[in-house]
Amino acid sequence: MSKIADPRLAEAGKKNFEWARKHMDALVKLAEKHEEKKTLEGVRIGVCLHITKETSVLIDSLIRAGAEVFIAAANPLSTNDDIAAYLATRCHIWAWRGETEEDYKWCIKQVITKKPDQIIDDGADMHVMAHEMNAKWVRGGTEETTTGVVRLRSMEGEGKLMYPIIAVNNAKTKFLFDNRYGTGQSTIDGILRATSLLLAGKNFVVVGYGWVGKGIAIRARGMGARVYVVEPDPIKALEAHLEGFHVGRISKFAKIGDIFVTATGQKGVIRYEHMERMKDGAILANAGHFDVEIDIRTLNSKARNIREVRQNVEEYELPNGKKIYVLARGRVVNLVAAEGHPPEVMQMSFANQFAATVYISNNYKTMKAGLYDVPVKVEAEVAAAALSAYGIELERMTREQKQYAKSWKV
Ligand SMILES: NC(=O)c1ccc[n+]([C@@H]2O[C@H](COP(=O)([O-])OP(=O)(O)OC[C@H]3O[C@@H](n4cnc5c(N)ncnc54)[C@H](O)[C@@H]3O)[C@@H](O)[C@H]2O)c1
Repeated sequence: MSKIADPRLAEAGKKNFEWARKHMDALVKLAEKHEEKKTLEGVRIGVCLHITKETSVLIDSLIRAGAEVFIAAANPLSTNDDIAAYLATRCHIWAWRGETEEDYKWCIKQVITKKPDQIIDDGADMHVMAHEMNAKWVRGGTEETTTGVVRLRSMEGEGKLMYPIIAVNNAKTKFLFDNRYGTGQSTIDGILRATSLLLAGKNFVVVGYGWVGKGIAIRARGMGARVYVVEPDPIKALEAHLEGFHVGRISKFAKIGDIFVTATGQKGVIRYEHMERMKDGAILANAGHFDVEIDIRTLNSKARNIREVRQNVEEYELPNGKKIYVLARGRVVNLVAAEGHPPEVMQMSFANQFAATVYISNNYKTMKAGLYDVPVKVEAEVAAAALSAYGIELERMTREQKQYAKSWKV
């Protein structure tokens, strides 16, 4: 029996779904309003997201609002098979952990050939394939992550976008929390689950000090690591410096680091020339969207010996005799070696996804092809839902204070 059709796995997935749903009130409450009205009745939605318990809560919300959902995974190694089995009882899904590159593309293609009206994507692989397939039936969609937005902006610049896409990643209620605190915690979680080593006292090199890198750096410091930051942007490098981190080049830190994590969205930020200088026992992981940040291809071709020493830990013996360790094959370590972002963070990202999907469904006829920000009204709605979910009360300004804020008089 294939895993996706295994009822015991589906039952385990259902429990994980329920656990996540209990901690995703912002999404659940926002979506409840659309359940009665069946706002998405008859809308066919193609989804390309990491198949996690949090994603199953988004899918559940879309189905409750009336949508028909078709899903493929956003990474060949990130699918939780129990969640895939559970989702198979609720919608159409093509995903399993350990897909080959070919399987991965095949799964995404299956979704597009089912003629979805809208696409929810993470990394833009489904949007790109829909364009390659000239999928004229797609009315619009959304994009979850920084790398996907970068790719879509490049397509927009070349005049290639065929439909409107909302850049969910760029909502403040997404990137300030998901990219920073979500990836911060789950990346550390992935490294610990894979290695079971101590972080305290280790030299921990973070390559890229954007939203994701910031989160990883502060959480690594919280665990007692000495944090080193590599960053080409002058303002961000200054920020890292004044935050108390050592800032410098990867060529210098290569010799110093015990653990390296990339989070840039760039390719080849750790190259073989750096790996050759690393200490025996150095550990490398990636938190950026694609597995291109650490040059694994060259490492594969140069290594004297490669073997798996633990789940998600591959040992590479270099020609100089040193051994270095790559986690999760250089793919998103927080999703492959751990479970991705916690539900309390994903409730905001996915509340944005849900609301943006409803917005496209209501407005696609008047929207031109192009990349859009999450509408301000939607952002405010998500922030209010998140505050209520966290049980946070905002201070109220007095009338006098409101006037003072606008006045030049002391
Ligand atoms: N693993 C996850 O769950 C997860 C979650 C959110 C985002 N992401 C992905 O993480 C990556 C980073 O996202 P972000 O939101 O932090 O983007 P960002 O644009 O805020 O940050 C990227 C940073 O990398 C820096 N950088 C670029 N080239 C570099 C180089 N050669 N060396 C060092 N630094 C370099 C940039 O200057 C920038 O500061 C993207 O691929 C994004 O899609 C992953």
